[in-house]
Amino acid sequence: MDIHDAIHARRSVKLFTDRPIAREQIERLLEAAAQAPNHRMTQPWRFYVLGPEARRAYGAVLGARKAKKVEDPEAARAVVEKVTTAEAALPCEIAVSMVLDASPEIREEDYAATMMGVQNLMLAAHAMGLGTHLKSGAVMDDPRARAAVGVPDGERIVALVQLGEPAAAAQGKPRRAAAEFTTWVP
Ligand SMILES: Cc1cc2nc3c(=O)[nH]c(=O)nc-3n(C[C@H](O)[C@H](O)[C@H](O)COP(=O)(O)O)c2cc1C
Repeated sequence: MDIHDAIHARRSVKLFTDRPIAREQIERLLEAAAQAPNHRMTQPWRFYVLGPEARRAYGAVLGARKAKKVEDPEAARAVVEKVTTAEAALPCEIAVSMVLDASPEIREEDYAATMMGVQNLMLAAHAMGLGTHLKSGAVMDDPRARAAVGVPDGERIVALVQLGEPAAAAQGKPRRAAAEFTTWVP
């Protein structure tokens, strides 16, 4: 697939089929992620491919956080169950973390590099006929979520990438033309 086609056609996929994703396919995607540009070659990215147990544990934390906003205890329990089940049912989920350098400047560069790796992964997945959805949020810093993923101290989770065969065509979210945001500086 032409790189421009992949860039323009990639959209977040919210519903996946049950088809499992082969380990070789996941490894290929992680190799694409690890080709990201990286100042100082710190290679800060770390990948946690979550199995069903880890996804269930992560889902339970995510669900518990969402349920905190629900007053009725029965409804809150239902939220936890729903989110836990949905996470466990994902064909594949990868937590991407970065190693935290002592220098704020390098940390910022490393965050950028890691997210470029995430984009590599998502575009490569699209080119392989797979869909992705990048998830983030304060949950990534929750010690319970970090424990579910198995991320050690000294790393920061920067993204959870859901991956699978798309169950339906993803909805397009059109962008404004780049020309609207562009200044040609003489
Ligand atoms: C850094 C980052 C964090 C994101 N976090 C979330 C998230 O927590 N939940 C979510 O549903 N989508 C999340 N997204 C996906 C965006 O909502 C999505 O990319 C955006 O709506 C544009 O849609 P598209 O990917 O289909 O083009 C995130 C995207 C980025 C780049």
